[in-house]
Amino acid sequence: MTHYHRPTFGSRLGAILAAVGSAVGLGNIWRFPYEAGQNGGGAFLVIYLLCVLFLGIPVMLAEFFMGRHTRRNAVGAYQQLEPRSPWGLVGYMGILGAFMILGFYTVVAGWTFEYFYRAACQIVFGAEEAGTAARFGEEFNLFIASPWRPIVCAAILIAGTHAVILSGIKRGIELSAKVMMPLLFLLMIALCIRSATLPGAAEGLDFLFKPDFGKVGSRTVLGALGQAFFSLSLGMGCMITYASYFGKNANMQATAVSVAAIDTCVALLAGVIIFPAVFSFGIQPEAGPSLVFITLPNVFQQLPFGNIWAAVFFLLLLIAAVTSIISLHEVVTAYFHDEFAMSRAKAALVVSLGIFVLAVFSSLSCGLLGGYTLFGMNFFDFLDKTTSQILMPLGGMLVCIFVGWRIDRRILKSEFTNRGTVAFYFFSIYVFVLRFIAPLGIAAIFCDQLGLIARLSGQR
Ligand code: TRP
Repeated sequence: MTHYHRPTFGSRLGAILAAVGSAVGLGNIWRFPYEAGQNGGGAFLVIYLLCVLFLGIPVMLAEFFMGRHTRRNAVGAYQQLEPRSPWGLVGYMGILGAFMILGFYTVVAGWTFEYFYRAACQIVFGAEEAGTAARFGEEFNLFIASPWRPIVCAAILIAGTHAVILSGIKRGIELSAKVMMPLLFLLMIALCIRSATLPGAAEGLDFLFKPDFGKVGSRTVLGALGQAFFSLSLGMGCMITYASYFGKNANMQATAVSVAAIDTCVALLAGVIIFPAVFSFGIQPEAGPSLVFITLPNVFQQLPFGNIWAAVFFLLLLIAAVTSIISLHEVVTAYFHDEFAMSRAKAALVVSLGIFVLAVFSSLSCGLLGGYTLFGMNFFDFLDKTTSQILMPLGGMLVCIFVGWRIDRRILKSEFTNRGTVAFYFFSIYVFVLRFIAPLGIAAIFCDQLGLIARLSGQR
């Protein structure tokens, strides 16, 4: 049990910005454009929007309910609502998942830090010699495989996150979101204008916004579902934890809708930044990390003041990543703090050290320790794949089932309406979605991804 007064966010806006900070991350800025690009651009967009609306928002609301109603961490929330039942395991899954995501997410964030640093110091992008895609690729691979530099970068970010977590809910998490989110928007707008005014930008915009339903397959729909989930920080107890700091009068529906809307806008803006730039220089949009770390440096190098644009871009990515890291850190810290009667400082320290150890191994697994594999994957990929393909969908599905089937409808309604003081339209439809649509939809992604894993391991 929690024996102390639980802090809350200072204002509704602060709560929304904190949740937005969690949602907006690497998932929006490189994963989304790449997924959209590969899956028919506009057509993917339409499906993605439907997923956010009919799956993302309901799951987010379910997590908000769990957190605000119990005012506990992810594990405590399940245990309080159904003591001594296996449901507590879902909470543990969330803590474990958040911890594992941190193990590789901090490493990728570290890479963005290095690239920001390089751009700011004019190291790469202003080089006199003409850069080729191959050279940028080589440089990137060399960097991530090096034994200490990426670790130092990750360590700096973990230390920064640690400082924010130590400063508490209002003065740490909320304040950092209030500073960083507006900055993120400013940087994004600047980059958008730059990118959209490049010669040949229209081609990139067409690529992103022109629906090509010919490319839509089951893979597209499931890709959109998975992306919506990752991007909205669902399924790992993240939104449960943040909602436990919501005030009594926070309007959860409005918060969920705003977070989803802003998160989606950021993803769209990221597409508007990346594709015109890529197409304008006649570069093909590639898959995964290479798009941001190899393809884009190529683009920046050809722009006047390329260094400055590169620095702005990587700073943007860094800010987005850091606010997401903070939210994941808080999931684990809140758990230790609540459940083991540890001080916040001690809990945060245990978590930060733990993340650091994971980050060291996942970073080394991109180089020195690359030969050691778990289920045929290096440690980095293992953390990434187990969380995004197994723990996240499972956690999201179970939270819907739990809230939909195990919670008394009157309790649900009272919590969502703040004891009858705000309206909740379509409540019955919402419960129906929670009980049937969302779990079945998520089960579909889940099975698909398990199928993928089976296929992949079959190939080895
Ligand atoms: N949503 C973040 C992104 O888009 C990542 C993230 C933060 C996350 N917290 C999470 C993903 C919890 C899943 C679960 O980059």
